Amino acid sequence: MAALAWNPESWLAHPAVQQPDWPDQIELQAAIAELATVPPLVFAGEARRLTEALGEVAAGRAFLLQAGDCAESFTEFTADAIRDKLKVILQMAVVLTYAAGVPVVKVGRIAGQFAKPRSAPTERVGADDLPSFRGHMVNDDAPTAEARAPAPGRLLAAYHQSASTLNLLRAFTTGGFADLSQVHSWNQEFVAASAEGRRFEAIAGEIDRALRFMRACGIDLDREATLHQVEFWTSHEALVLAYEQALTRQDSLTGDWYDCSAHMLWVGERTRAPDGAHVEFLSGVHNPLGAKLGPTATPEEVVSLCERLDPLRAPGRLTLIARMGAARVTEDLPPLLRAVADAGHPVTWVCDPMHANTFVSQSGRKTRRFDDVLAEIRGFFAAHRAEGTWPGGVHVELTGEDVTECLGGAEDILEEQLELRYTTRCDPRLNARQAIDLAFRVAELLRA
Ligand code: PEP
Ligand code: CO
Repeated sequence: MAALAWNPESWLAHPAVQQPDWPDQIELQAAIAELATVPPLVFAGEARRLTEALGEVAAGRAFLLQAGDCAESFTEFTADAIRDKLKVILQMAVVLTYAAGVPVVKVGRIAGQFAKPRSAPTERVGADDLPSFRGHMVNDDAPTAEARAPAPGRLLAAYHQSASTLNLLRAFTTGGFADLSQVHSWNQEFVAASAEGRRFEAIAGEIDRALRFMRACGIDLDREATLHQVEFWTSHEALVLAYEQALTRQDSLTGDWYDCSAHMLWVGERTRAPDGAHVEFLSGVHNPLGAKLGPTATPEEVVSLCERLDPLRAPGRLTLIARMGAARVTEDLPPLLRAVADAGHPVTWVCDPMHANTFVSQSGRKTRRFDDVLAEIRGFFAAHRAEGTWPGGVHVELTGEDVTECLGGAEDILEEQLELRYTTRCDPRLNARQAIDLAFRVAELLRA
């Protein structure tokens, strides 16, 4: 395609897959027009600061923890759920920082993760073919034709829920809740009693001792902002382009365009075609970007994706999120690592050990085995060690709640237990215990 100048609407001239079939164009245009006037959720300066932090990851001096729901929900939207998700992410980050001694960049799949790509446009429910559920930004998950009709008003609802979620996250992370002296309180009751919980308590106790030691040495800890606040960033898949376009603003300081719906945006495995609409849109915004890479990604494809999204070879601009599957990662990842290094792109490499290890249980539930998740992370680290590149982070789906969606882990969730507390709107998530357990395993790999 001829390289016409980029603008927030230039994606319209490219093939856009996975877009909702909006029944009412007038309603859609009204929603887009309203979104184009609302305040931005994040600021350009924040996105630049995250790019800088991710540049440290790309250089091998920090580690990225990107985590949260597969799909946020309009109906399960409470302060407690947001707080508990943040607790687990903070706990994982403390484990990684303390046990491996590397700074951790914390990015949530949160405050905007409302749209889902689907492998088929329709889904068989009983005797009917219904439109697939595409995330609460688009339609409802109830199995009726009315619920599944895309409704443009949902774009506005997604914006407003993102704003409330981000407001709470900002309050929690800067208002004392994330203070290192609170580290014990992040351990939820159902976690504290477990082996992972006790292991976490031990680290929390050592952090207390270190803080007391520093205070006794005469260090004024009250003046050290980094002990009392954390930088926490938001991210989601930039899937519904009408929404992302409407929230794109020109920075008054630099004149650059930023997608102000989140700090970081990523392009999914199904929408990453280098000449497609999603890549065209993301190529022109200055936020840090991610791109998912599945087992079919070829070195040529990945290099051309890097060329489109990171032509300036800027550290922190592009994070490649490999989701190869436990069985394929050791074979499929190294050629990609080599090709990207040879092309000179200073990308951040991250492992998503969730999306290529999903299967359907006998009872019909989508699930993942904790052991497969771990095996893929091990293979990811091994591939990087062999190639001399930095295994820059992990990207996981989790919740702070005590769900039973992924199999195994220390509490050894069995197939027949999936029914107990299976509440995800989309993919199965690690529960808080499994997530903390995983953080300890990753810390061991980082130390090795
Ligand atoms: C996801 O991250 O929820 C997802 C759909 O991932 P992928 O694009 O890698 O399949
Ligand atoms: Co998912």
